[in-house]
This record gives sequence, C-alpha cells and structure tokens, in this order.
Amino acid sequence: MPAASSRQGSTQFDTDSIFYMPQQWSPSSWKDHPIKQQPAWPDEAAYDNALKHVASMPPLVFAGEARSLQANLAKVAAGNAFLLQAGDCAESFEEFSADNIREKLRVILQMAVVLTYSLGVPVVKVGRIAGQFAKPRSSDTEIVGDLELPSFRGHIVNHPTTTEAARLPDPDRLVQAYHQSASTLNLVRAFTKGGFAALDRVHAWNQEFVASSEEGQRYDNMATEIDRALRFMSAIGMDTDTNSNLREVDVWTSHEALLLGYEESLTRRDSTSGNWYDCSAHMLWIGERTRELDGAHVEFLRGVSNPIGCKVGPTMTGDEVIALCEALNPAMIPGRLTLISRMGADIVEDCLRPLLRAVKDAGHPVVWACDPMHGNTFTAENGRKTRHLDAVIAEIEGFVRAHRAEGTWPGGIHVELTGDDVTECLGGVDAIVDSDLDDRYETICDPRLNARQGLELAFRTAESIRDSLNTSNS
Ligand code: PEP
Ligand code: CO
Repeated sequence: MPAASSRQGSTQFDTDSIFYMPQQWSPSSWKDHPIKQQPAWPDEAAYDNALKHVASMPPLVFAGEARSLQANLAKVAAGNAFLLQAGDCAESFEEFSADNIREKLRVILQMAVVLTYSLGVPVVKVGRIAGQFAKPRSSDTEIVGDLELPSFRGHIVNHPTTTEAARLPDPDRLVQAYHQSASTLNLVRAFTKGGFAALDRVHAWNQEFVASSEEGQRYDNMATEIDRALRFMSAIGMDTDTNSNLREVDVWTSHEALLLGYEESLTRRDSTSGNWYDCSAHMLWIGERTRELDGAHVEFLRGVSNPIGCKVGPTMTGDEVIALCEALNPAMIPGRLTLISRMGADIVEDCLRPLLRAVKDAGHPVVWACDPMHGNTFTAENGRKTRHLDAVIAEIEGFVRAHRAEGTWPGGIHVELTGDDVTECLGGVDAIVDSDLDDRYETICDPRLNARQGLELAFRTAESIRDSLNTSNS
C-alpha cells in the first residue's frame, strides 16, 4: 500500500492526463495537518483582514500559463530540455527597483543562452522572483544582547532590524508582498516580450564577460562558437528582426509556498478545467524543513494543479522520496513534480544515487534539479554566512556524475543569485576572498552569487554536462 494512503481518500483521474482531482482536498484542508515555520501573528483579526484583502485581488498568474510551464517541464523530465531556476534567496521590499529586476533577469537570460547552446536543448527559465519573500528559519527566536526576538522571516512577515517592534509580524506586509509581486511580474513580462531578451543582445553581454578578465577567457571558445552559430542564422535570414523566437522568451515565476494562509488566499478555481491553481506564481515548491508527508505543506500543494517542486536533502531515503512522489503526483503526470536535491558537494553523489534509482524504478516522471547552494553554506572567519563558487560547482558536478551513473537526466539547476555586483559568495573570476565579503554584502538572508559568478556557473555547468554526455556517447 503506498505510504501516501495514510492520507484520507483516494485520487480520481481526469480523462485528460494533465489533470487530476485530489479527493478530500480543499484550499483550506492544510489546516487539519501539523504545520511548521509559520509566524506568530500577534493580531489575528488584522491577519484575517489582510488575507481577505489578498483574496479579493486578481490572480497574479493564470492557470493556462501554469499548464504551459508544466508542459515545458515534461520535456525536461523526458531529458529533452533543461531547467534553470534562479533568483533571490529572499526578495526585499527595500531593494525593489526596475534596475534590480532588470539585472536579475539579465543574468538569468545570459546563463540560459550558454546552457541552451552547449546542451543543445531548450532551457526552461524559472525565476525565484515575484513572490520569493517568506523564509524558513532554524529557530523561532534569536538572542540579541539580552533580548530574545522573533526571528526574521522575510519582508512578507517582519523586518530584520533587531528591535521588538521591527520583528513583530505585521500582516500589512502580506498585502505589500502581493503588490510588489504584481509589479515585478509586470516588468518581467515587459522585458521578456519587449526586445530586452533578444538573443544577439544577450550574447553580446556574454562576450563582454568573456573579454573582461583573463580568467573569463577560459570561456572564449564557447562564446566564439555561439557567435558563429548566430552569424550563420543571420546569414540565412533568421535574425531578431524577423523571428520572434529570437526576440521573446518565457520567464516563469516561482517561490517557496511557505505561508499557507497567503497561498490559500491566492488559490482560485480555473473555469476551464475546474481545477484549483495557486495563482501566486507559476510554480511553487516545498522547502526542506516543511516536507513531512502528513504535514500541512504537502497537503496544500498536493491539491493545486500548478507544477510543484520539493527540496530533497541528505536525510531523505528511497522509501520517503517515493512516498512524496505518490502524495504529490499520484497520477504520475510528467512535469508536475520537480525534485530539487540539496545535499552538499562532498556527499551529493552517494546520497543521490539511491534516490535516483528508487524514483526511476518506481516509474515517476520527475524533473531532477540540483540546488548547489543550501548544502554548501558556512560561516567565514569574519562571521559572514557564505558559499564558495568551487563548492557550488563541485555539487553540480557530483549531481551530474550521479545521473550519469544511474542513466538519468540531470534536469536542471536551482540557484540563488542577484544581478548586482555583490560580494556575498567566495571565488569566481574576480577571486572574491574572505576579506572582500564586507564590501558589498547586501543579502537579507542567504549569500547569493553575483552576476559574474552566475554566468561562470552556467559555463562550468554546461562544460560538465557536455563532458558527461560525450563520455556516455563514446
Ligand atoms: C531556499 O531555497 O531558500 C531554502 C530555504 O532552501 P531549503 O528549503 O532547501 O533549505
Ligand atoms: Co536560501
């Protein structure tokens, strides 16, 4: 009997295989399950009012868009496309500007061009953007001097300043997060359809990166190859003036579905299919700390029809991962479920292989993505939380080796980055070291790759997967 059957009820399948109707589920059935990582809202009436306000607002995304993303992810699950999921650890109410959004988008587009060219498959681009606000924390409170303060849980909840007043959860922030998500998404849509994403432009930015440092020249060969391919296309009459495929791209939105009250308030029934969609983003994921099979987060996400993700950390067993697949994707719909492994560079290969085998043997058509960030965080001597680009890349290489050994497709990467020139992670072509961290350490949560580190990561990931494909073909 599948472990998921510990939940009440069964699942009824729709005749059209991209939908299923979970039984005994409603947008609020998560309330009957144990829940973790929720703020203690001090004023319940104000909290309810804020949620009512959000519930009265238009959806941020439409069901049809979520279905298109799922169809694209189905191609990833089949080994015919690659997922690039990237963006902030936690979006900020303060660092919110057109420049900030544009630069983040720019690095995602640059990375996508490198990956598309070198892997020879479409790259599905999903931002940790337009809603990635809420953060799980290792402890509910934090000791600062003689004060015990509620932990900072993201700008959608409270403020990081270390005073009682700043840390008090404020429900007005839920409404502000909705509005910021709406304007961010609006700009993302404008940039991606309005010419900013034109392929030749994005490639020119990549060439600037390659030319701008000696270390960057290591990627000169690949950049030159891409350049030739673009010239060839232009010579045969395919260019950005004549072909909208070269001018416009889809960038989808995603975030961790952590605050279930907020997610519920944006969950709407789609009039075409009759199914429920969480319209706060195209894709939602469950974090490593809230993935209990009987917990509220699994309960909520099993019932929405968006493509969903779930983080998979080093303690996960084969039986557990299968139980999760059965709970979250009982109908085995390709592209519905992305498993995002986040193990740590040293252990990824050993931890991941049994899970890949179990999922493959059970026939679950998942996307496997590698989050090389969250298992490689440490505190530098000056007290700054950081990550080294070498460890981040080493985790991706281990992830690729594990897939090669098991005959599965290393479907994508899931990274925390910003388009700004921050100094939060070590290493990269600019050789950021411990003593540089204080220069521009701007994150409100985890350390992010800066734009140059993000692009280098794309070149190195492309090399690693290309080498792995070449060896398996030879
Ligand atoms: C995150 O992705 O920001 C995060 C908190 O990750 P995890 O759930 O894997 O710890
Ligand atoms: Co993070």
